[in-house]
Amino acid sequence: MAEVRFDDRVAVITGAGGGLGRAHALLLASRGAKVVVNDLGGSMDGAGADATPAQKVCDEIKAMGGEAVPNYESVSEWDSAQKIIQTAIDSFGRIDILINNAGILRDKSMMKMEIDDWNLIIAVHLSGTFFCTKAAFPLMRDAGYGRILSTASAAGLYGNFGQTNYGAAKLGIAGMMNSAKLEGAKYNIKANTLVPVAGTRLTATVMPPQVVEKLKPEFVSPLAAYLVSEDCQLSGAMMVAGAGYFSRAAVVEGPGYFFDEPEKVTPDDIAAKLAEITNLEGAAEYDSAPAQTGHALSHIKLD
Ligand code: NAI
Repeated sequence: MAEVRFDDRVAVITGAGGGLGRAHALLLASRGAKVVVNDLGGSMDGAGADATPAQKVCDEIKAMGGEAVPNYESVSEWDSAQKIIQTAIDSFGRIDILINNAGILRDKSMMKMEIDDWNLIIAVHLSGTFFCTKAAFPLMRDAGYGRILSTASAAGLYGNFGQTNYGAAKLGIAGMMNSAKLEGAKYNIKANTLVPVAGTRLTATVMPPQVVEKLKPEFVSPLAAYLVSEDCQLSGAMMVAGAGYFSRAAVVEGPGYFFDEPEKVTPDDIAAKLAEITNLEGAAEYDSAPAQTGHALSHIKLD
């Protein structure tokens, strides 16, 4: 089998000064990619800034014979996100790969969450992913090639106590990639979502050290690298990785129950048919909203 390589490819990886982003950067660079190592270098909850993390990862890449440039901008503003993408053009003349990975946490139960905790998490994760993707998209369209991987979380797919802000942003990212997949299709732009589990500074405080040890970020990066490779023809997939576990998650919809006369349906009819309505046996995935609507309308006879 041919090795998955990134020769002549240019990758921008946000939040690559540590954790998962650093592991992705080192793997891509070891296989030939030129990498923009972006990292604001703030604290886990988004305070401050520090050039050291991005610079250190660039030094590591150069020490192993690779090519990398640092960028210290925040993903969370449109102006600074454009500068992140522009760094790839200024330094290497192109952008083939974007990994939206930068992230912070502001965990609090809904009742204790400050509005600032909500706004900042949405700004970094959801808006940050949108801004970087929006800046990269026209360049990828013009090149007729692009691979975008954005980072979601099981907290968004399935929920987690104290993470209403983070979960909303993370599932929003998966929703964003569903539409990016459709908008990028004719330009050979693939847009996928990564759902990682890794022992990093974001999780080290909530996991025992022996679990953190089994969850090295490096164990996630092979899937991330595959998903941003030329070989990858998947688009709109939510791919899960951690501790040697790899899987695909999906939104599915049950076959449903069709009432022939919608105008006559009462709440009591819903109660009576709840088992059929909630049944997921024979559930389907849809690759666009119109495809799903097509199913919902499949019993309608138009005159
Ligand atoms: P990490 O804290 O080690 O890495 C995140 C990096 O993003 C940090 O180096 C940080 O300085 C940088 N960053 C934060 N805000 C930024 C901004 N505004 N602009 C640019 N850079 C910024 O944490 P980890 O775990 O490696 O997280 C990477 C991504 O994976 C995040 O999006 C996180 O939410 C996601 N994730 C991680 C999981 C895990 O188990 N570690 C689980 C699910 C998702």
